[in-house]
Amino acid sequence: MTSSTASGKIILFGEHAVVYGRPAIAAPVAQVRATATVTDAPAGSGCTLLAQDIGEEVRLADAPADHPLALVLRLALAEAGIVREPDWRIELTSDIPIASGLGSGAAISAALVRAALTHAGQFAPPETVSRLVYRSEELFHGTPSGIDNTVIAYEHPVWFVKGRPPETFAVGQPFLLAIADSGIPSPTKESVGDVRRAWEADPATYESIFHRIADIVHGARRAIRDGNFAAIGLLMNANQQRLQELGVSSPALEKLITAARGAGAAGAKLSGGGRGGNVIALVNLETAEQVQSALLAAGARRVILTRVGDRENHNRR
Ligand code: PMV
Repeated sequence: MTSSTASGKIILFGEHAVVYGRPAIAAPVAQVRATATVTDAPAGSGCTLLAQDIGEEVRLADAPADHPLALVLRLALAEAGIVREPDWRIELTSDIPIASGLGSGAAISAALVRAALTHAGQFAPPETVSRLVYRSEELFHGTPSGIDNTVIAYEHPVWFVKGRPPETFAVGQPFLLAIADSGIPSPTKESVGDVRRAWEADPATYESIFHRIADIVHGARRAIRDGNFAAIGLLMNANQQRLQELGVSSPALEKLITAARGAGAAGAKLSGGGRGGNVIALVNLETAEQVQSALLAAGARRVILTRVGDRENHNRR
């Protein structure tokens, strides 16, 4: 039996603009994880994928070519040089909320790639995991930038520019984030599609917003490197303003953001595709509890606290 896991993720800065070649910063969220467990099945029974959380059971032989999990498994088997379908039963579980910006799809795929390669007696280096998971992200997202598969495969904060090798980067002082789930599912494909249509209709305006976001992301990298907590918070607020201009915020998200700031968060913004999904708020040990309560009172389904830059959180699987 082989069990492998993958963490969730959040985008700290630069979502949406990253699709248009600007940089973004993302970090793993080790508190929520997807798990894939491979066990050998009786000879001749073939390969079955069981995702109990979503009530899905798929026989690999019957799965269509565009089934994201079957696709990623076929790619992993090819990577391992396995040509004949193995007799495996693969169970997939996850406590990462679906369609909420925490990278649930990419995490399940990453856990699956790791478990399949390891069960086949192979290494599963981050570059390989990232490359294979990207292929399934294309089915989920349409035109993914590649940031989700990258941060989840490396399980370390990353500086990401589409088409370039990802860079991990220094965090001067670990910082605490409250991640609040609005409970509103937000398929990334939709918000990304809407931004694309708006950009096509008015490229000058949208390019200038993306340009401003890029400046914010560069500033954030410096602030994170220097451990400048106040600056990180202000830059989160500035990024949120630009996300509003892109049309990807929503009244529910604004309510959570306002509540977090009002309760003492140093900054707050949506994270990921937007409309629904999660907001993130920068807190410290003094403000964490108040901010958490304020977020719950403002309608958050659940609030997770995570430390960014905490070595113990990284590369754990
Ligand atoms: O909704 P999420 O967290 O999967 O993030 C999507 C990030 C976008 O920048 C909106 C899209 C992308 O492919 O980078």
